[in-house]
Amino acid sequence: ADAAAHAASRYVFDEVTAGNDKTHHVAEGYDADILLRWGDPITADAPEFDVMNQTAAAQLKQFGYNNDYVGFVPLNDAGTRGLLCVNHEYTNEEVMFPGIGRQDSVDFDGMTPELIDIEMAAHGGTVVEIARGDDGKWSVVRDGKMNRRITPLDTEMTLSGPAAGHKRLMTNDDPTGTRVIGTINNCAGGMTPWGTWLMAEENFHGYFWTDNVDADGKAVIDSGNPEATSYGRYGVPGAWYAWGKTHDRWNIDREPNMPNKFGWVVEVDPMDPTSTPVKHTALGRFRHEGAETIVASDGRLVIYMGDDNRFDYQYKYVSDGTVSDDRAANSRLLEEGTLYAARFDEDGTVTWLPLVHGEGPLTAENGFNDQGDVMIDTRIAADLLGATPMDRPEDAQPRGDGTAYIMLTNNSRREEANAANPRPENNFGHIIEIKEDGGNHSATSGTWSILVKCGDPAVAEVGAQWNPETSENGWFGSPDNCAIDADGRLWISTDQGSNWGKTGKSDGLYALETEGDARGTSKLFFRCPVGGEMCGPYFTDDGETLFLAVQHPGTDGTKDLAGFERNSTFEDPATRWPDFDPVMPPRPSVVVVTKKGGGKIAV
Ligand code: FEO
Ligand code: CA
Ligand code: CA
Ligand code: CA
Repeated sequence: ADAAAHAASRYVFDEVTAGNDKTHHVAEGYDADILLRWGDPITADAPEFDVMNQTAAAQLKQFGYNNDYVGFVPLNDAGTRGLLCVNHEYTNEEVMFPGIGRQDSVDFDGMTPELIDIEMAAHGGTVVEIARGDDGKWSVVRDGKMNRRITPLDTEMTLSGPAAGHKRLMTNDDPTGTRVIGTINNCAGGMTPWGTWLMAEENFHGYFWTDNVDADGKAVIDSGNPEATSYGRYGVPGAWYAWGKTHDRWNIDREPNMPNKFGWVVEVDPMDPTSTPVKHTALGRFRHEGAETIVASDGRLVIYMGDDNRFDYQYKYVSDGTVSDDRAANSRLLEEGTLYAARFDEDGTVTWLPLVHGEGPLTAENGFNDQGDVMIDTRIAADLLGATPMDRPEDAQPRGDGTAYIMLTNNSRREEANAANPRPENNFGHIIEIKEDGGNHSATSGTWSILVKCGDPAVAEVGAQWNPETSENGWFGSPDNCAIDADGRLWISTDQGSNWGKTGKSDGLYALETEGDARGTSKLFFRCPVGGEMCGPYFTDDGETLFLAVQHPGTDGTKDLAGFERNSTFEDPATRWPDFDPVMPPRPSVVVVTKKGGGKIAV
């Protein structure tokens, strides 16, 4: 590489060495402290965590499992007190509960009614106050007045927008079609400009049970069911969890319309611990990865949202009205607006296709009787509009200048490449940069380009594309979440899942340059313990604190990696991070990164 042509990236830190072991690693000169672990008490009256005798009642007052999205709402001008908002995406029963091992997905023999309720109580979200001491260290304020858990076990929610009250949302427990208990599989999310928290419901299909199974024991839906076409497009029923065996609302034989109440984006007001969360149906229904917001140059609210499935679509939502100082009015921006799906053309333009009932093919002839149907069957509407099938759109991050970054995590099943998905058998994913017309995020068209094609640049067959300044530590696979820091710089976290063995590297957080001659240069800042996925990331406004979430440590890919040839169980996990206590299994945890001696990160 010609060093003169490839200036150094703007991120000032010494790269971590890539690799894989039982603990985490952060760049030299930084502290990475454990802030919250699965089971930590988050209310004043919560019991201490007792992993051998866990109960659902205790779990409802303790930090949940598999922390994914992390957001922060400052409570003072100095930003030294605030509310942390954390999604708990899913549960891994084999490393949570003693003595049950890996569960057979048909029988779930080890899953007692109490363990099922613990799992439900460990899903959802947490709001917890945290404070930064004079020593610069963050800690949990256990008696914080806003501290609360949100769960699929007992948190009542309402539905807003075009599908609220729709007959396809009416259930035995709610004949109005406007209420629902709980939220599930909350992956990434976002904070609104007015300080509310958006939780994206991702793989909701996996939670629905039926006693109807085919010859292979796979849960199936009868072709005569009125929702059969829709559920087929969404993958319902997945039967990943045993919950439907003890709770009617997860059993589509008992509650056939319940899946239509999931797959939405939920808004929570963290400032009011008694507030009722709202599922905003105007934002569409799909496997919502995230919901990052931005105020467009015309004042409207725009939300970028991926549908994390092979060959599914990138979406954005544009509100009708503009963001103001009136919080209640702002939340209505999530009820009245237009949802668009993206078409990426070969000539480098992106066109945003509106999902509006009565326009184009979205008519009764094609099964759409009203806008509620369009929102319930967002995927089918986008199919008809000709949106571009993508390589699993994960998180998307807008920046104030009309730019957005789209994470395409991977798609091993792609056979035919196209310009926006340029590699068949895309094992390592890529990142697209969108520049909206006029620098305005509410524009209905823009241009796009590929920022990087992920994977090992030293292996020609991979076909990776990085700036040559990227070191052997800096390249990555399977981009998932992303964030923009206080200086407008992009950070990427990875989730390789079953692809760990293909890179030999743990998941981590990378600083990815987007500007100038260094564009496409990536540097490794933080590395997960074995089997852990890197979630978060979230920077405070002053750029001095970075929140990261290590999800499911000890699980992903452990049977594919040298030195870890086994599937983790409670008794024999691949790591016991972060406690390293011989009786404690690995615990998903939120990590807080600060610079030793203080100051902005990577500056
Ligand atoms: Fe929950 Fe698409 O990651
Ligand atoms: Ca994700
Ligand atoms: Ca992922
Ligand atoms: Ca995961």
